[in-house]
Amino acid sequence: MSQPFTFPTRRLFLGALALGGAAFTVRGAFAEELFRTPRQTEGPFYPNKLPLDTDNDLLIINDSITPAVGEITHLSGRVLDVKGEPIRNALVEIWQVDSKGAYLHTDTANRDKRDVNFQGFGRFLTGSTGEYYFRTVKPVQYPGRCPHIHFKVKKGNKELLTTQCYIKGHPGNERDGIFRSLRDEKEKAALSVDFTAMKNSRIGEVAARFDIVLGFTAVS
Ligand SMILES: [Fe+2]
Repeated sequence: MSQPFTFPTRRLFLGALALGGAAFTVRGAFAEELFRTPRQTEGPFYPNKLPLDTDNDLLIINDSITPAVGEITHLSGRVLDVKGEPIRNALVEIWQVDSKGAYLHTDTANRDKRDVNFQGFGRFLTGSTGEYYFRTVKPVQYPGRCPHIHFKVKKGNKELLTTQCYIKGHPGNERDGIFRSLRDEKEKAALSVDFTAMKNSRIGEVAARFDIVLGFTAVS
């Protein structure tokens, strides 16, 4: 369970964390293409009004000292092309429900219970490594859906991919119509990630890595 705390800076950077899997290479010995991240529906809850704060720390809005409630999650990954080359200047956007199952959207369910300290939406512009990073809460179920985080990747004015990321092995996944619409196990695996307890965290933080492979060749 999360506990109140303060965080000294608004913008969070990679490197403050031990990102366990960051060192692995996705480039194999063969010139095989990586499996492309499957597309999924955007759904009806992309914020209809963006929050004033759209940074990569969804737990703190602007300079508030009250963080969102929920299981603190360090969500990271890389945006890659099919050859495994990192895509820089990709704008990664995420949106999701808060710990009460409410979106940052006027039509959301659970509106009266909404956690007003949760930013609900965030953005990260990748650098030369293609890496992105968000601090958020672990997604929860809401009526009709298993836990998931929505992703949209843009470059310039172009929308390159809209998809959703799931908790690997969550019992709700196979009852979820949108998850089940994925064609096969390979597609399901590509959108399912472990949310792993961080060993040295005294406040029960978890880490998740979700790499995104675009059917697009990186140009710098
Ligand atoms: Fe959703």
